[in-house]
Amino acid sequence: MTDKSSIAAGTLGGASVRTQQSAARGLWSSRWVFFLAATGSAVGLGNIWKFPYITGENGGGAFVLVYLGCILLIGIPLLMAEVMIGRRGRQNPDGAVARLAREAGANTKWRVAGWLGGLTGFLILSFYLVVAGWALSYIPTTLSGTFSGVGGDASGELFNGLLASPMRLIVCGTLVLAATMLIVGFGVRGGLERSLRFLMPGLFVLLLGLVGYAAVTGEFLQALAFLFVPDFSALTATSVLIALGHAFFTLSLGAGAMMVYGSYLPEGTSIAKTSVLVALADTVVALLAGMAIFPLVFGNGLEPGAGPGLIFVTLPIAFGQMPLGQVVGGLFFVMLVIAALTSAISLSEPSIAWMTERFGLSRLKAVLVSGGLLWVLSLGSVFSFNLWADYQLFGKTFFDSLDYLTTNWLMPLGGLMTVLFTGWVMKEQTVRDAIGIRHGGLFRAWWLLLRFGTPLAIVLVFLNLSGLI
Ligand code: TRP
Repeated sequence: MTDKSSIAAGTLGGASVRTQQSAARGLWSSRWVFFLAATGSAVGLGNIWKFPYITGENGGGAFVLVYLGCILLIGIPLLMAEVMIGRRGRQNPDGAVARLAREAGANTKWRVAGWLGGLTGFLILSFYLVVAGWALSYIPTTLSGTFSGVGGDASGELFNGLLASPMRLIVCGTLVLAATMLIVGFGVRGGLERSLRFLMPGLFVLLLGLVGYAAVTGEFLQALAFLFVPDFSALTATSVLIALGHAFFTLSLGAGAMMVYGSYLPEGTSIAKTSVLVALADTVVALLAGMAIFPLVFGNGLEPGAGPGLIFVTLPIAFGQMPLGQVVGGLFFVMLVIAALTSAISLSEPSIAWMTERFGLSRLKAVLVSGGLLWVLSLGSVFSFNLWADYQLFGKTFFDSLDYLTTNWLMPLGGLMTVLFTGWVMKEQTVRDAIGIRHGGLFRAWWLLLRFGTPLAIVLVFLNLSGLI
């Protein structure tokens, strides 16, 4: 094979030899570390910042139910497929898909599923780091006691004050970007592994504590009813699309992230079991975040549909009232930033790999180029909240448009290509060997879901949204 794609794959091979060497040096030193890394990618702003606010905007219970259905029937099967492709391809997404396509005797153009994912991750990261910057800037604000005794209005004003200051947003976003690029460029292994070991359990305990606090001081029953009693009249076609998009977002799907992580997974680890556990951990964190926030929302007379600022307005009220709130709150935002960083790393990895492949850049140069581009693009999101707030594309700010485009269209599209590739291009026997599900019935159930259920669901949602059905 001397065509362009194999040359590209060869170059990619160079990049991936390095990553594989890191794997050999023990990137995932155990299954537990893979689980932590995948959970670190999955658990992030999506769970704590985004899930509560979109649940609030989409009417609560019915939306949560559809979201859980999407995780179960679309998210988990696709997560398994992505990890499987990564592990069998043993390369970055683009090269892994191309390699498996060749193996199946199919057209290597399927690799578009890989590079499109890289682009999607890149676009997501440009606004993700701005939101992570909000969390970062809230660390000193909380520690200094600014929130002590604030109510809903004052807290809202403080948040609006942050959004109104491009300078503060740029400084914080830049710090997050620099930290991400530093870790991706130099120390993925140590940094990721160390922060994950403490972060995941720590975040979990802190969230549990916050739920407890909210249960005692807030409107807990009203919050539970809002989250878990479905009111289908509140559900629109757009809500269904948003629920589907969020299932992708929160499990880091459709952007190559889980493929890259799967490429470091040792043979013999159960992909199915690990995927279910990752999805479970991710879902539990999101639901806990909802249970921590909504009691405060209702208890303080705030609006559930307040939008992206929801947690930044509600949680400070609680931190301003509880004993040791400055410390607890500071710790919370520190953990939120670290959770965002472990996700940001997985968002940037596929596009960095793409750059080293496509342009033969060194990893360091790729990080610098990618970081520079991200920085410029992130300004669009920063200005969406101040200088360009009135400048709308399709009735949305730049920030909202980017979120909408990536989460609701690009990720499901990437996911659709991945399931079609796995279910219809790869040979059944290859998939059976690669996924390693021993139980025949379980394999069949997954295989059928992947071939028919998942693509059909994604297509139906797309058609519905385009107004065709
Ligand atoms: N899942 C992360 C969150 O919920 C975000 C994320 C990380 C992501 N990697 C991704 C989203 C890849 C889409 C694709 O915060």
